[in-house]
Amino acid sequence: MHLRGGFDRLILPAYAAALTLAGCQSLPPSKPSSEWTPQEARGAAVFAQNCARCHSPTTTHPLHGPGLQAITKVKAMPSGAPPTGERLTAVILHGRGMMPPTPLDDPQLQDLLAYLRTL
Ligand code: HEC
Repeated sequence: MHLRGGFDRLILPAYAAALTLAGCQSLPPSKPSSEWTPQEARGAAVFAQNCARCHSPTTTHPLHGPGLQAITKVKAMPSGAPPTGERLTAVILHGRGMMPPTPLDDPQLQDLLAYLRTL
């Protein structure tokens, strides 16, 4: 009884708070595709061809890699690094851990980064 009371009073609220903080609902909304600029739309095509098989753009649930919803709006990416353009560029061009490098030319990369910022 004592243990269970402690669990309910202390641990469950902390767990619920952590879930709320980490949950999808606290993430800012993605830009709807109907409002994409031409560059963002080109970036979505780059994503579909090079990234979508491993990453969901609309959730944080992992496929082969982490879901990328709101990836540029969070303080830290799954690795702990902030989602700066520089860091994203390095991860995309050079890969990371189980993620293979993706050779993109500069216009494709800029389009892709613009698209990632809509997520
Ligand atoms: C073959 C599967 C695969 C492909 C293709 C892939 N990724 Fe990944 N990605 C991963 C995995 C696995 C990780 C986790 C790497 C780690 O932290 O060890 C990851 C991590 C990431 C991260 C988080 C980096 C961090 O610092 O936490 C970003 C952002 C990312 N990928 C973006 C992309 C983009 C954009 C593309 C397309 C150009 C792409 N990925 C293509 C598998 C993939």
